[in-house]
Amino acid sequence: MLMQIGPLNLHNAALKLTAGAPAQLLKAGKPQIAFAGRSNVGKSSLVNCLLGRKKLARVSGAPGKTITVNYYDIDGKLFFVDLPGYGYAKRSFADKKRWSALTQSYFEENAALAAVLQLIDIRTGVTADDADMLAWLRYYKVPHMLVATKCDKLGKTALSEAAAQLVRSPAVAPGTGCVLFSSLRGEGRDALWTHITKLAFGGGGKD
Ligand code: GTP
Ligand code: MG
Repeated sequence: MLMQIGPLNLHNAALKLTAGAPAQLLKAGKPQIAFAGRSNVGKSSLVNCLLGRKKLARVSGAPGKTITVNYYDIDGKLFFVDLPGYGYAKRSFADKKRWSALTQSYFEENAALAAVLQLIDIRTGVTADDADMLAWLRYYKVPHMLVATKCDKLGKTALSEAAAQLVRSPAVAPGTGCVLFSSLRGEGRDALWTHITKLAFGGGGKD
């Protein structure tokens, strides 16, 4: 597995900050690539797969438990930001409010936010909650693209049909990029890194 991506040495990756309140959020400094999506969609697994690490981001057995924004420092040059998941049915009203306050604050006036990777489970497609998040990203004019997760769960034909349907969803702006991903198999890793380095640094990821 490739551990040097352009200027980034992935051996130098570590959880840097866990923010549970708006005042703790980072709004300046190194570029941030944020990961958004439903609880259980595969955000932490995707972060681990991209970084070539098994357990850096905690893969949860109990979905939606923690409402925190987790910053992973990557070689001192970039942050991966694991946003709290949404759509967890059993979440209390108070927790939903906390989720909204934290997430909304994260997007507001965040000069360091380079782009959001919006994760969508390839089997379920765009849910109502995903559509709300996509509308938010458009409202805040955040550059974003889709990552279809758990692609190993579908056969070849079903996968290409589901992928075509995903980008045709009315919630998705025409021309929005989409990478098909499997954290289980590592499929999509190279393609997604190419997008990420472009979004974070411009050009091909060179210094
Ligand atoms: P929260 O932190 O609770 O919001 O969840 P999350 O979005 O971080 O999801 P997480 O990475 O914890 O994965 C949830 C479950 O999906 C775990 O059981 C993972 O093993 C599984 N999973 C994640 N990615 C894949 C994938 O690409 N393929 C398959 N088959 N399973 C996956
Ligand atoms: Mg997670």
